[in-house]
Amino acid sequence: MRIWKNAATAVLTVAVATSRPAIAQQVACGAPFQGDGAASRDLYCIELVPSPGIAGVAGVVELALQPSPFSPAVTTDGRLRFEPRITLSGLPDPSSLGDFSTYVAWAMDPTMFPFMKLGEVGNGTTDLASIDLNKFVVLVSAERSADVADREGRLVLRAQSPATRMQPADMLEFVLGVARGDVPPPSAMDGTGVGGEVRWFMPPMMPQLSMLPAMMELRPGVSPYLPSVPDPASLPEARPREILDLADGDTLSLEAGLVRREVDGRSFVMFAFNGQHPGPLLRVAQGTTLTVLFKNAIDLPTMIHWHGLRLDNRFDGTSLTQDPVAPGGDFEYQVFFPDAGVYWYHPHLREDVTQDLGLYGNMRVLSPREDYYGPAHREEVVTLDDLLVGEQGLLPFGLEEATHALMGRFGNVFLVNGEPSWEIDASRGEVIRFFLTNVSNTRTFNLSFGDAPMKVVGSDVGNFEREAWVESVVIAPAERYVVHVRFPESGRYPLINGVQGIDHLYGAFFSESDTLGAVRVSAEEVDEDLSSDFGELREDGATVAEIDRYRDESGRPVDYELELTMSAEGLPDVVTSLMSLDSAYFAPVEWSAAMPMMNWAASPSAVSWVLRDPRTGNENLDITWSFRVGDVVKVRLHNSRRVLHAMQHPIHIHGQRFLVVEMNGVPNRNLVWKDTMMLPVGATADILLELSNPGLWMLHCHIAEHLEAGMAMTFAVH
Ligand code: C2O
Ligand code: CU
Repeated sequence: MRIWKNAATAVLTVAVATSRPAIAQQVACGAPFQGDGAASRDLYCIELVPSPGIAGVAGVVELALQPSPFSPAVTTDGRLRFEPRITLSGLPDPSSLGDFSTYVAWAMDPTMFPFMKLGEVGNGTTDLASIDLNKFVVLVSAERSADVADREGRLVLRAQSPATRMQPADMLEFVLGVARGDVPPPSAMDGTGVGGEVRWFMPPMMPQLSMLPAMMELRPGVSPYLPSVPDPASLPEARPREILDLADGDTLSLEAGLVRREVDGRSFVMFAFNGQHPGPLLRVAQGTTLTVLFKNAIDLPTMIHWHGLRLDNRFDGTSLTQDPVAPGGDFEYQVFFPDAGVYWYHPHLREDVTQDLGLYGNMRVLSPREDYYGPAHREEVVTLDDLLVGEQGLLPFGLEEATHALMGRFGNVFLVNGEPSWEIDASRGEVIRFFLTNVSNTRTFNLSFGDAPMKVVGSDVGNFEREAWVESVVIAPAERYVVHVRFPESGRYPLINGVQGIDHLYGAFFSESDTLGAVRVSAEEVDEDLSSDFGELREDGATVAEIDRYRDESGRPVDYELELTMSAEGLPDVVTSLMSLDSAYFAPVEWSAAMPMMNWAASPSAVSWVLRDPRTGNENLDITWSFRVGDVVKVRLHNSRRVLHAMQHPIHIHGQRFLVVEMNGVPNRNLVWKDTMMLPVGATADILLELSNPGLWMLHCHIAEHLEAGMAMTFAVH
């Protein structure tokens, strides 16, 4: 593979220019980071440097992620929330440095504003006030009193947050190397696709991003694909989703077919289940079994996976369990719903194309327990998606293999329940229970309903032990969250995705805030006032009792490990080793398309994403774990930042459920059954996996393009 070859020298330059001197190596980052469950030191640990004239003093600041119902705790605009903990040694009596009585720690933006007091510190370990700045500087000063409002005294120690390593042109050199390396010549752009009609064109890009001419020459090395029909006007227009209340033993016909779809006044040929966007919402009681007669009426082979359902292995809808259903073919599924909550169905073959073109739908499973959820006036089941639309229409997909293998295909048009401008009506004071599902290929959303108060009550496979107030919901591909939101005033509550984008050319963060839709609240008051119920955080006794049975197992030793990593074939060793220096900065979460051209051009044959079992050295489909029904095992996942472009991964396990019991060495005190969990870059999570369902199953990353780029393994349960 040629792609990275020319990059070697370029990386060398960058690494030498930005790597920091080794400092304070003798100081350990504190407890959570000492164990094997540690986060990557260089992303979550700051080593302090003494000021000139200060000798024998050392210190570190650990950046623990604030505990949260979501993988990373973030502000509504997408900044990470850290709980810093400082460990200092060798500080002299402050009076020896002048007219001082104590030491104080501070944090500030590198522009020196805003300026935050973190607290009084001394030798030993101290918890500090939380920090939610993108980039910051930490200072320790000697002060005359702990009450000073501003730093007045002598500077003793200082350091910069990991994100300040991201400087203008960080990583850019090797990006340019890639651009000069393996790019098919521009004429490749004129290649035609299916039926000679589909052509590549320049993908749309965020206006905030700076781009160099060399980048603009990148192209995917595959043919473009879009579904094409002789006469698109003859296709049925996609209809809104219908809700199907189905009973045990019912049979449902589900057809994947072609539709015409208007989005913002433009017409596209897309796919749909039963002609609907999203596909029909199946509403069933817990314990139901349905027969689904699936018919494939699209021009690609496909099959349906019933995401999150612990159903009979034969009907899991993956290439492990069935042959793909050819165009024109059909398959009969028996779909069983053992757990309450919200689930979804989607194809499991080239879903980078088929799911993105509209093949997804939800399943709402009702618990027999009347009080399964706290009171709400109504429910809304909502899918979140993004579509990549340019001047010439939908950006084509790769025909032979996927495009966007690096970061996944981010879209630029947001779709809520398939709508570019989703709106619902509510009455003043109404409490709505939202079932949120992220059906996008790669985007992690950070959602809020303006300033409407919101609590999270459930996730993938059930309820949280305890409800929690949240300002926003962080939801990665395939995850689900159940939230209660109260709309106290009349007016419009926007549904906002608030995140921090990255401009690598300028080494800067920028805020992205997109309004995905709105809840229109009338002046008329809702009939029943639920404000006092809503105001309380419930504990779900049944869930607590059920999880109690697994509580002891959380302390068990790690049974299996998986490292999440990447390889670019033929990558020179020098690059690999340089990348393991503290040179480049990787954001724990990439919220948007930071490197659109490089990403677009990357194919799964150039970049493979890897699940690696460190105990055997096996990778991806060579990993074969085997369990017995009834086993409960602890699996440690670590998302390595020592790769060319690290990224968060939403890891999904088929046919079972698991608990995330520990994140970066910090125990999780509010558990919920999951089938998908997002692991930020450099983070380590311990999950307790319950093996309840026999068969041959998959574990994979749910970024569609990462799955295409190999990030999958199997395990058997006997
Ligand atoms: Cu949602 Cu393997 O899938
Ligand atoms: Cu991934």
